[in-house]
Amino acid sequence: MKCRSRLLIARRTVPFFGLPPPKFHHHQHFTTNVSPFNLDQTSQFHAYPLRFLGSQRFSGNTQKIWFLSSPGFGRSVALSRHIFESRVVPTVRDFSTSVETRVNDAKFEKILVQNGINVKPLVVERIDKDEGIAGEADARVEVASNDKDVKKEDLEGVNGISVTESGDKRKQSEIEKEAWRLLENAVVMYCGSPVGTVAANDPGDKQPLNYDQVFIRDFVPSALAFLFRGEGEVVRNFLLHTLQLQSWERTVDCYSPGQGLMPASFKVRSVPLDDNKFEEVLDPDFGESAIGRVAPVDSGLWWIILLRAYGKITGDYTLQERVDVQTGIKLIMNLCLSDGFDMFPSLLVTDGSCMIDRRMGIHGHPLEIQALFYSALRCSREMLDVNDGSQNLVRAINNRLSALSFHIREYYWVDMKKINEIYRYKTEEYSMDATNKFNIYPEQIPSWLMDWIPEEGGYLIGNLQPAHMDFRFFTLGNLWSIVSSLGTPKQNGAILNLIEAKWDDIIGHMPLKICYPALEYEEWRIITGSDPKNTPWSYHNGGSWPTLLWQFTLACIKMGRIELAQKAVALAEKRLQIDRWPEYYDTPTGKFIGKQSRLYQTWTIAGFLTSKMLIEKPELASLLFLEEDYDLLEICVCGLSKGGRKKCSRGAAKSQILV
Ligand code: GLC
Repeated sequence: MKCRSRLLIARRTVPFFGLPPPKFHHHQHFTTNVSPFNLDQTSQFHAYPLRFLGSQRFSGNTQKIWFLSSPGFGRSVALSRHIFESRVVPTVRDFSTSVETRVNDAKFEKILVQNGINVKPLVVERIDKDEGIAGEADARVEVASNDKDVKKEDLEGVNGISVTESGDKRKQSEIEKEAWRLLENAVVMYCGSPVGTVAANDPGDKQPLNYDQVFIRDFVPSALAFLFRGEGEVVRNFLLHTLQLQSWERTVDCYSPGQGLMPASFKVRSVPLDDNKFEEVLDPDFGESAIGRVAPVDSGLWWIILLRAYGKITGDYTLQERVDVQTGIKLIMNLCLSDGFDMFPSLLVTDGSCMIDRRMGIHGHPLEIQALFYSALRCSREMLDVNDGSQNLVRAINNRLSALSFHIREYYWVDMKKINEIYRYKTEEYSMDATNKFNIYPEQIPSWLMDWIPEEGGYLIGNLQPAHMDFRFFTLGNLWSIVSSLGTPKQNGAILNLIEAKWDDIIGHMPLKICYPALEYEEWRIITGSDPKNTPWSYHNGGSWPTLLWQFTLACIKMGRIELAQKAVALAEKRLQIDRWPEYYDTPTGKFIGKQSRLYQTWTIAGFLTSKMLIEKPELASLLFLEEDYDLLEICVCGLSKGGRKKCSRGAAKSQILV
């Protein structure tokens, strides 16, 4: 097998800057050994147009970046504030939290232009040869390539925490030994180097569909297990290779989604060459082959979260400092922060854009995406180098963080008291002072919820739209709200109280239920489109997913409730090996292995191992979660003075939860 690594890509043929389009066929291969971020004017290939290159400029004389010494702001401690000079009259437009208006300043634009145009299509001779990164990047790349093989011994003692101890010094149980063996077997090699893990390795599976691919979201627990065991190489390779995939155009029926999108998954393919030789290529799926053509919005968010975790756990910050990696973060952020028609600071997405990647009525502003978005914003702010080219982006990130956390804390939160409030809502309130801002009709409160909501505890609802609250409990979103501090400290504690109070419903025989309750009867027919895989209490529709265990463990440790995680892990440990590591379980209490569940599902295995290591060494959790950022609560950039005709909605909010 010849190993000139290549990416399998599709390109759009749209003229750019008046240049004629290059003639390519879909899925044509290119071989070159330069980085996509190389600025090479002689390139025969023309770059794709960058959507965010506008001609607008933000006139920056009303703003300054304030540098604070808050731990929440990481290395580049920056907090945006608006300083008004008496002569400058701010307009509401100037306060947009979107990046479009702010990032289109010359410097940020320059970075993106540099990294966008004249890119040569393909890159990876080997991931450690970054000779294509131009200019100032060279110095960094050298550093980065010198430390490319992050060895176990390098990772010991990082951040004052010995990461390897829990992984291999302690005596492992037979179950853990099997889990490690299976996880190692799931590793995918690309040109002789590990680059990820397959989604499932079920020998009895006659129709693996895309389960033989490396999924971005599925790889996260695998990555953490390896990192906790002191093995950084596979994670580093994964991060860099997926970054390369991000850089390329992808199309669905001649339409290209925004640049910065990360694929849902990728596969290493062998492509025949002349004279009976083969070569390996990476073939990404951005949703163009996925069932339902769903856009993987969560992939980029997970990539950023994992990038931060890699730095925190290994202590190797050179990776996140690389110019190409910094650009990758900016592209994802830019895509997420771009202006649209939306009225809310939460991210507007289509159905199935996350772990639940089929129609389940979660289009709009699903909690899972908001929690991952918030985490990714915080991780990005911590990792981005603040300089002239990024200061507007950092400002936009801060503004969005602040608006988003207010929105979720205030409007997504429900407990018994809040449900009673909604129950008594007046409707059709037209004013800035409306209590029932989204015109929720009280009849919408589902009957199950009236009985179900415990006196202690509460949770963040699944989705919020005009006249619509999705009251289902979605586990991943609630857990990540705890982990990232999207919820207030009080709310975060209350979510775990609710899980404890509703143990049989959310943990049952197998942790944890993906959402509660299931859609049944007419609702199932209308909302899922009669999906035979998402029948009530199966798969995404109220099935139980053991991979959620590591996120639960992390949330419990953060909130000082490790005993809950221990109980859940013990339950899972009793069954996972005997049941051959299923992807999911069915029935209201998770009693049976899922109807169409894959066996030997990698993120089930890795999630179990990661949970075991976290319980063994709870201090590892602090490398992954984010504490409350009190500075964010201070930011309010809406520009509406309290005495004016219109009131700042935050001021008008009657909530008592923002403590
Ligand atoms: C299913 C799941 C998705 C997962 C994929 C691979 O499509 O819904 O979340 O990433 O399988 O395991």
